[in-house]
Amino acid sequence: MSSPSSTSPAWTPDSWRDRPAAQQPDWPDARALEATLEELRRMPPLVFAGEARELTDVLAAVSEGGGFLLHAGDCAESFDAFSANAIRDKLKVILQMAIVLTYSTGVPTVKVGRIAGQFAKPRSSPTESRDGAELPSFRGDMVNDFAFDATARTPDPARLLRGYHQSAATLNLVRAFTKGGFADLSRVHAWNLEYAASSREGKRYDELAHEIDRALRFMAACGIDLEAELQLRQVDFYTSHEALLLGYEEALTRRDSLTDQWYDCSAHLLWIGERTRQLDGAHVEFLSGVQNPLAVKLGPKADPDEVTALCERLNPMRRPGRLTLVSRMGVQHVDERLPAVIEAVRRGAHPVVWACDPMHGNTFVHANGYKTRHFDDVMAELRAFFRACEAADVWPGGVHVELTGEDVTECLGGTEEILPDHLEQRYETVCDPRLNARQSLDLAFQVAELLRT
Ligand code: PEP
Ligand code: CO
Repeated sequence: MSSPSSTSPAWTPDSWRDRPAAQQPDWPDARALEATLEELRRMPPLVFAGEARELTDVLAAVSEGGGFLLHAGDCAESFDAFSANAIRDKLKVILQMAIVLTYSTGVPTVKVGRIAGQFAKPRSSPTESRDGAELPSFRGDMVNDFAFDATARTPDPARLLRGYHQSAATLNLVRAFTKGGFADLSRVHAWNLEYAASSREGKRYDELAHEIDRALRFMAACGIDLEAELQLRQVDFYTSHEALLLGYEEALTRRDSLTDQWYDCSAHLLWIGERTRQLDGAHVEFLSGVQNPLAVKLGPKADPDEVTALCERLNPMRRPGRLTLVSRMGVQHVDERLPAVIEAVRRGAHPVVWACDPMHGNTFVHANGYKTRHFDDVMAELRAFFRACEAADVWPGGVHVELTGEDVTECLGGTEEILPDHLEQRYETVCDPRLNARQSLDLAFQVAELLRT
């Protein structure tokens, strides 16, 4: 069962502590933080090493063109917006998108949620000013509170524990939904959310669901026992978050008894954000030693040599499935910047999954004060990404998007167009603007089209 380890002999779960760690909160009470981390070290793991290995295997297939990665969920999960219905509806959208992608392209879709642990946020400024008052920035519910007052914004380690418990409860529900009948292909119609069903995308989805019904009836008529086919009744769904708070990640890192290797058991896949991917920084050091599949976000300033150095550092054994590179350059930079990065990684013979996050490079603040993204920019960046992959002859392996099952008005555009005046109606995110179900489905249909052509 044991695979060659890529961990350097000097690595330990706390070797990151000797390196500069960007984006860490200023915890006011070091002893309270240490007591909380000690408590977390005693908690059960949230995921198992074997599941992380399974995800590495399916991502290895993606890196070779035998699958497509759908990586999606909230920008930041929140303590307040925690409910069974919200989790169910987010899952519905992701399952719908996966069905659209799989049915239209004929390749398996690997589903990874930004869920069950996506609580900590990097910020462009450590403080936020409003009406002359300056306070620490909101760093996600696992650190401090969104409300703009001094007590709320003070980092509180008790929130790490609450985040852990909410992750456990969320994961429990995700496992129940994906393995307990809800994700059965015969229920494909039921995933259409009420508010989206009458839209153009909702109707298109319903037609596709009818085709799947017909195919299932055909298979049953041929004598295939659909009840016995686990693949049709259950879905493999993996969790992920940005591994930002290194104390928390370290506390959930365990040695796997089967392989004797280290796994960060807070989620199946962990990613390194654009602001914390310094080669000699603490985040790269920490993640270099855990055996989970990893992703790294690459913004427009990513230098080709720096990217290959990251690949070398995070995946020296060049294990397929270990590393996903997520281009998030912004629509105006892709044509100019991405080809050189892809070329350098190819020259280094690094077997990565190439994915595109068309959200984070296209964020802007509208004149009315709302932070938003335009659906047209999101799609234009995806098209540019597909063009770059095609020109370089690499498989466009996945998309990474921020979405919600709620009927929000956070991103502009879409076929039932959200206009600047609509933003205030249902702007509910505590961090970045997310696609609603209509926009998410629209994106899935368009990506399926791009994949086909
Ligand atoms: C995010 O994914 O929410 C995020 C902050 O991304 P990036 O690091 O790409 O800016
Ligand atoms: Co975000």
